[in-house]
Amino acid sequence: MRTSAVLIIAVALVACGSSTPDAPAAAPPAAASPPPWSMPYVQGVEALEDENPDPKIVEVTLAAGRTSTSYIAGKKAQVFAYNGLLPGPLLKAKVGDRVIVHFKNNLSEETTIHWHGLRISDQMDGSPRMQNPVKPGGEFTYEFTVPDAGSFWYHPHINTAEQVEKGLYAPIVVFDPAKDPTYDAERFLVLDDIRLEDDGTISPESSMDGMMSGRFGNLLLTNGRPIKEAVASVEQGTVERWRIVNSANARTMVIGVEGATFRVIATDGGLLPEPYTTNKLTVAIGQRYDLEVTYDQPGSAKLVSYVESQDSGGNATTAKLSAFTVDVAESARVAREIVWPSVTFPDRVADGKATITLDATQTGDMPWTINGKADSMDPLFTWTQGATLDITIVNKVAMEHPFHLHGQFFEILDAKQPGLKDVVLIPPNGTVKIRAFIDNPGHWMAHCHILEHAEMGMMAEILVTPDANAPPMTAMSH
Ligand code: C2O
Ligand code: CU
Repeated sequence: MRTSAVLIIAVALVACGSSTPDAPAAAPPAAASPPPWSMPYVQGVEALEDENPDPKIVEVTLAAGRTSTSYIAGKKAQVFAYNGLLPGPLLKAKVGDRVIVHFKNNLSEETTIHWHGLRISDQMDGSPRMQNPVKPGGEFTYEFTVPDAGSFWYHPHINTAEQVEKGLYAPIVVFDPAKDPTYDAERFLVLDDIRLEDDGTISPESSMDGMMSGRFGNLLLTNGRPIKEAVASVEQGTVERWRIVNSANARTMVIGVEGATFRVIATDGGLLPEPYTTNKLTVAIGQRYDLEVTYDQPGSAKLVSYVESQDSGGNATTAKLSAFTVDVAESARVAREIVWPSVTFPDRVADGKATITLDATQTGDMPWTINGKADSMDPLFTWTQGATLDITIVNKVAMEHPFHLHGQFFEILDAKQPGLKDVVLIPPNGTVKIRAFIDNPGHWMAHCHILEHAEMGMMAEILVTPDANAPPMTAMSH
């Protein structure tokens, strides 16, 4: 109240001053130039506040700690959270920005932060092999430059299965002011599942999870809340960009949009040269997909999630659940036309080959292997910066594995899965070929993103040796 009163007085004073007869004429309004670019607001998640006035630096403060929430009315659950938020706060930056994160660990256990999908230095990647874990009560400053625009996320990389399940996961958006199409609104939809006990608390870890399919939840969450609460309302004719990430421990999400039209416009590595349409989209754990959603009819538009379960007779059934519901008010508003920018990917032919085999052994507490080794500390491969490798990933077990490579992007050599990726889903007993662009030197983790599998052995390291003649890393999709 007081502040606004002061403001009003100040405005009145200025107005009086400028009305004196001798005051110089006001400058003519500037010629119609487009308004300066400003970072879009992203709905659905709370954003970190940039504390640095330099337009090329994003400086934020982040803390991991314990808090409690309620997933079931009247029942409390102890959780972990970044800045007390579930999911954690959105980190926003522009392509090429310097990002400084002052991180404090208020947990009673060690942690690190991995910036999933950002092609930054391995020193800042949150791998406990490269960075000393941040001790309870300890602090660490992450500092890096973001080379690529797109949708990403961050999460710990120590005791990951438990820390992520308990709530430590959060979205990242890197904007490209020159390329990003303008939408009426942007949203982030962080898709997760969580396993709760009848008393509403998070189920304790089961050692069987890691041995088997990983930890599946019994409640789907969108932006940290049970899906039935995920609602919004818009006017017919609105066109939005939905940025989606699957942050579950073990569940592959199969999604679609009903009651609106949509197309896929971006993947892990950013905008696609050509958006495409589809009915159902499989989102592996860790993957991102951006959808352009046009509310072309009044009523109810939904992000639907196809969830497999068993009926009372033990037969597999697929339930269609609404993971996010939008009430669309009837309107004559004409949908804006989206002008697609020119986007190109590197056109590179492979100069090498490799094979990665995912398997299981029958013994020990590290049952999952990559090329025959469980959680090996020796590099699985040593590659040179700038290499383009055709990698065949072979899955020897009757269970799917979302395979993630840190620090690099690749393309899946399958016309049905276009775009730059950092996670690829390897079907049960299946084989997938990728073309990897090994441009970022360092020690990099490569692992299954079913977090329980990673912790029980399906984790390897890849060494990329620097090439002094390699060009500096710039946006891969440009
Ligand atoms: Cu999101 Cu090592 O991963
Ligand atoms: Cu796996």
